[in-house]
Amino acid sequence: MTDKRIIHILNGPNLNLLGTRQPEIYGAATLQDIEDSCRTHGENLQMEIVFRQTNHEGALVEYIHGAARESDGLIINAGAYTHTSVALLDALLACHKNIVEVHLSNPQAREAFRHRSYVAHAARGSICGFGARGYLLALDALHGWLEGI
Ligand code: DQA
Repeated sequence: MTDKRIIHILNGPNLNLLGTRQPEIYGAATLQDIEDSCRTHGENLQMEIVFRQTNHEGALVEYIHGAARESDGLIINAGAYTHTSVALLDALLACHKNIVEVHLSNPQAREAFRHRSYVAHAARGSICGFGARGYLLALDALHGWLEGI
């Protein structure tokens, strides 16, 4: 049996409010629902999931540093910091991991201030607009890259 891949899934500000936060935009799933479905899907793909959320930019930077040390791949929904944070971009650029940017909504179809993504500069790919399913698609993408399929 092959060793499990370790995948870090990091979530930024206000994503702890999913389920009640603008469900017409972000859907009905809670972050706990998303974590549960990622763990189930990860199990099928031989992946161990480390799942984190924080409302603090510096904490997110430190989670990225941790992922750089410990993980085989990184999925990040940085929430509003996506559009503002050079600190997050620098941490991601220092990380040298397979990085997938995820957004529940499609920021390109929303307000102009959401069109710029600092995270995208460091990501190998971005998955936007598929709701909670985007996290599972990101796991599939990482699985394909890591296994060379
Ligand atoms: C989001 C999109 C961001 O623009 C917003 O600030 C969020 C959520 C998404 O998942 O669609 O907090 O990252």
